[in-house]
Amino acid sequence: TAVNTMTMAENSFIKKLKSSGRSLVVFYGSQTGTAEEFAGRLAKEGMKYRMKGMVADPEECDMEELLQLKDIPNSLAVFCLATYGEGDPTDNAMEFYEWITNGDVDLTGLNYAVFGLGNKTYEHYNKVAIYVDKRLEELGATRVFELGLGDDDANIEDDFITWKDKFWPTVCDFYGIESTGEDVMMRQYRLLEQPDVAPDRIYTGEVARLHSLVNQRPPFDAKNPYLAPIKVNRELHKSGDRSCMHVEFDLEGSKMRYEAGDHLAVYPVNDSDLVERLAKLCGANLDTVFSLINLDTDSSKKNPFPCPTTYRSALTHYLEITALPRTHIIKELAEYCSDEKDKEFLKTMSSTTPEGKAQYQSWIQDACRNIVHILEDIPSCRPPIDHICELLPRLQPRYYSISSSSKLHPTTVHITAVLVQYKTPTGRLNKGVATTFLAMKHPENGLPPPRVPIFIRKSQFRLPTKPETPVIMIGPGTGFAPFRGFIQERDLLRKEGKEIGETILYFGCRKRAEDYIYEEELEEYSKNGSVNLRLAFSRDQPHKVYVTHLLEQDSDLVWNLIGEKKGHLYICGDAKNMATDVRNILLNIIKTKGNMSENEAQQYIKKMETQKRYSADVWS
Ligand code: FAD
Ligand code: 2AM
Repeated sequence: TAVNTMTMAENSFIKKLKSSGRSLVVFYGSQTGTAEEFAGRLAKEGMKYRMKGMVADPEECDMEELLQLKDIPNSLAVFCLATYGEGDPTDNAMEFYEWITNGDVDLTGLNYAVFGLGNKTYEHYNKVAIYVDKRLEELGATRVFELGLGDDDANIEDDFITWKDKFWPTVCDFYGIESTGEDVMMRQYRLLEQPDVAPDRIYTGEVARLHSLVNQRPPFDAKNPYLAPIKVNRELHKSGDRSCMHVEFDLEGSKMRYEAGDHLAVYPVNDSDLVERLAKLCGANLDTVFSLINLDTDSSKKNPFPCPTTYRSALTHYLEITALPRTHIIKELAEYCSDEKDKEFLKTMSSTTPEGKAQYQSWIQDACRNIVHILEDIPSCRPPIDHICELLPRLQPRYYSISSSSKLHPTTVHITAVLVQYKTPTGRLNKGVATTFLAMKHPENGLPPPRVPIFIRKSQFRLPTKPETPVIMIGPGTGFAPFRGFIQERDLLRKEGKEIGETILYFGCRKRAEDYIYEEELEEYSKNGSVNLRLAFSRDQPHKVYVTHLLEQDSDLVWNLIGEKKGHLYICGDAKNMATDVRNILLNIIKTKGNMSENEAQQYIKKMETQKRYSADVWS
């Protein structure tokens, strides 16, 4: 359509590059903002090497224009691409990924490099970046620098700066650029204070549309969350010092729908005490109304977050103030130290020398210091608040596996969340943003219920279509969450007289009397025959008992349901150890009980995955 052509033309990255004398374009496939941040840092650093750069969102670009990039002298396309879930590209890179996969274009003359963002605890580590790097070469493009892979389970910042450190010299060699190599401190946004702006034009926490939290209009999604009333918020642990919440949100009138296995996203707000401490450390007035305006007028991103707003709203709703700052932030902070020793300390810490990396690891990562802690511990470092607002990443929604069935609860959606709180080596108490926020939201008799911005994200985690198909569910701890919905659903069908296949749940926790969540419900489902319960209490006896031990004991049963009756197997919870251990045990069962070689058993699981008979919903 005409409109589409218009926006595409406006978004022509080739046009923008040409009109602003740039030769570097950095595309990002980002879900939580890290790939976008890395892309921004690369584009900005291009200045140092006389290679002016810009970032671009593939979703907003006509990627066929990559064919024309070669017409720009010394041009380079860099791709910072994250891999998600079961090896998928991020939403904004999906179309590009499909185009490059299925398309048959000739990319001869295109110069490129790829950096991937992934997590080694997941099965398909960095699949997207690995594929794109290979595919671009197949299509005739020239790889200027080797593929870089970042592991979010270890230290992705370290992986990125290590890659970047070698990337630039190679790029300079390739194009014959004599690097100036000088650090250029540049602001990406300019500050505009706006004391006179009308109060109803000021953003107060909306994700996108002004007043969207007051004038609620469906459909609700990530950009337009629903302010859901909380009906129930109760403690699930019976004793011990940890806390696990069962939270019910009211969907009545929202037109929102969900299915068991979907995810609920929550937009949290930051702790007001922390917000005030940060403002004080920067000498800022939280009520000041301001905008940050992109100095790059060609960029489609005019502001880093909705503007105009107040510093209070920015620090409360829009910025991740408790995330551990990455090295580029540390580097910029160094410039604001009045004490030379402090300045050197931060400069070293942001460098890629072994000493710098070790310092960053121990002083930031191991000590869990966020921006507030850094400024508290380095009193001579006093950056202006607007620069802090430019540097901190955008506050992200948190996802929770939905723990109810919409068949049983059509107008409410439930989640099961563990409160994150831990003591740091510097003696501070760090609190998880979203879980601390939720822990304060208790409905009280006679008062209007507290409301929280949410949206629902569809998932692939689904019960088999036929209720007769057997299911094996493995979900220790909060990994039980989606299975509560699954069990509710099968229980309902059974009561309606349907024939239900075997429904086995492997649940594990520390102690029966402490963190056996939903005990009463589960014992009831077990008694009425809706579930076959297999319980592992790891700390109720001298030796550990895990769900994995029970699975091993049950090999015959597992093989019977999986191998013979073509049942479905589900894993939910901790991605790091549990999910891998379960996969290995399953592999063993398939080998021994199904008489298969290692390779055949691997193929067997792969096939189960493509048939949606093996699904994981895991997080780290
Ligand atoms: P944040 O402020 O985000 O802090 C968490 C971070 O703090 C961690 O990433 C880690 O870096 C750090 N941290 C935490 N503990 C320590 C420690 N002891 N020492 C040092 N650093 C530490 N959670 C559930 O409870 N239930 C669910 O059903 C659930 N389902 C999920 C489904 C998906 C698809 C995903 C991606 C995640 C799921 N999560 C679930 C996790 C959830 O999204 C949040 O990550 C979690 O609740 C913490 O959020 P927060 O804002 O409270 O903590
Ligand atoms: P632990 O904390 O006593 O080691 C929920 O977190 C339960 O899962 C706890 O009982 C925990 O035991 C257990 N668990 C820890 N590691 C596991 C693993 N690799 N496989 C299965 N369960 C595990």
